[in-house]
Amino acid sequence: MASQNNPQALITGSSGLIGSEVVDYFCKLGWDVHGVENNMRADFFGPGGDTRWNQRRLLEMHSRFHHHELDIRDRTGMDGLVASIRPVLVVHAAAQPSHDLAANRPFDDFDVNAVGTLNLLEAVRQHARDAAFVHMSTNKVYGDAPNEIALIERETRWDYADPAFVEGVPETFRIDRSKHSLFGASKVAAVMVQEYGRYFGMNTCCLRGGCLTGPNHSGVELHGFLSYLVKCNVEGHIYKVFGYKGKQVRDNIHSLDVVRFIHSFFENPRSGEVYNLGGGKVNSVSILEAFERVAALSGKKMQYEYVEQNREGDHICYYSDLRKMKAHYPGWEITKSLDDIFNEIHAAITAR
Ligand SMILES: NC(=O)c1ccc[n+]([C@@H]2O[C@H](COP(=O)([O-])OP(=O)(O)OC[C@H]3O[C@@H](n4cnc5c(N)ncnc54)[C@H](O)[C@@H]3O)[C@@H](O)[C@H]2O)c1
Repeated sequence: MASQNNPQALITGSSGLIGSEVVDYFCKLGWDVHGVENNMRADFFGPGGDTRWNQRRLLEMHSRFHHHELDIRDRTGMDGLVASIRPVLVVHAAAQPSHDLAANRPFDDFDVNAVGTLNLLEAVRQHARDAAFVHMSTNKVYGDAPNEIALIERETRWDYADPAFVEGVPETFRIDRSKHSLFGASKVAAVMVQEYGRYFGMNTCCLRGGCLTGPNHSGVELHGFLSYLVKCNVEGHIYKVFGYKGKQVRDNIHSLDVVRFIHSFFENPRSGEVYNLGGGKVNSVSILEAFERVAALSGKKMQYEYVEQNREGDHICYYSDLRKMKAHYPGWEITKSLDDIFNEIHAAITAR
């Protein structure tokens, strides 16, 4: 039973990578944490995407965790749940998260990512208006426009040649006039999160993620790049590299550092904000470099196949400019290095 004296948090996608880290973090602080989850990741990605193991793990670990088997598309159900909990913190992490999958399931993608977000926003406006509301968005809202930044080719990676982007991509980068994938477009539609801040004055914030990662990801080929790459190496599967010579760059942030930011936002909320959230330049890695790192950990050479065609709208080089986050929340910083991230993912996958 939830205690009315404890702060109440509501997390959607609570068995996923980010959702489960949020549950764990706030339960450890003594909060009552309510998770909304329907294991739709298994429906999207098949058995490799099944997140029930993580739900069981959280229920075993935390008596203050309350699982609600609910679909965020269920408007009435979501409204009733928010009315009964009246959370002070809402973290919206449920999503169809894959760029590539959206093309095959456009209605599911839009209904979950755009309409599901609106269902939650409106329920919070009606019943918990003062809550801090954090929405997990994506750098795919910039579409493929970051590919217009002048690049330099190095031995193992692409990098920005334009000095304006030496710290990475800032929040001022344009979000239209580019190819987004249907996934990126449904996430753009969730600009509603900013509107509920700017129009209604609610404490909303939108986090445009780079690669969010960690040991609790149910990584699959279409989503969860590092987790899936390490899994392929450990299990001896062939990893497919799509274009860009394998030198494409991603910035990686551990899910714990994501949650630490969410906590900072809760303690000092702002209205209608947007932040680019990733590992930044220091935690960036190319696919070729990731192969070397995982091989050094496992002692197994990475087996891969190169496909000349890049994925539609895929970024060649992307890392987040973290300066706005750090300016607004000076106590927050990246605490998990790329080495930590590789070590933890490798240990978790070998232990499974
Ligand atoms: N992981 C990344 O690299 C990354 C990068 C950028 C943005 N993001 C965003 O961060 C958020 C969380 O990502 P993640 O990596 O934790 O994803 P995830 O797939 O691990 O977690 C999402 C969870 O939501 C659940 N879910 C999906 N549809 C649902 C529905 N209709 N009702 C209830 N639950 C539902 C899934 O079963 C899954 O457990 C997503 O919005 C994603 O787009 C992730």
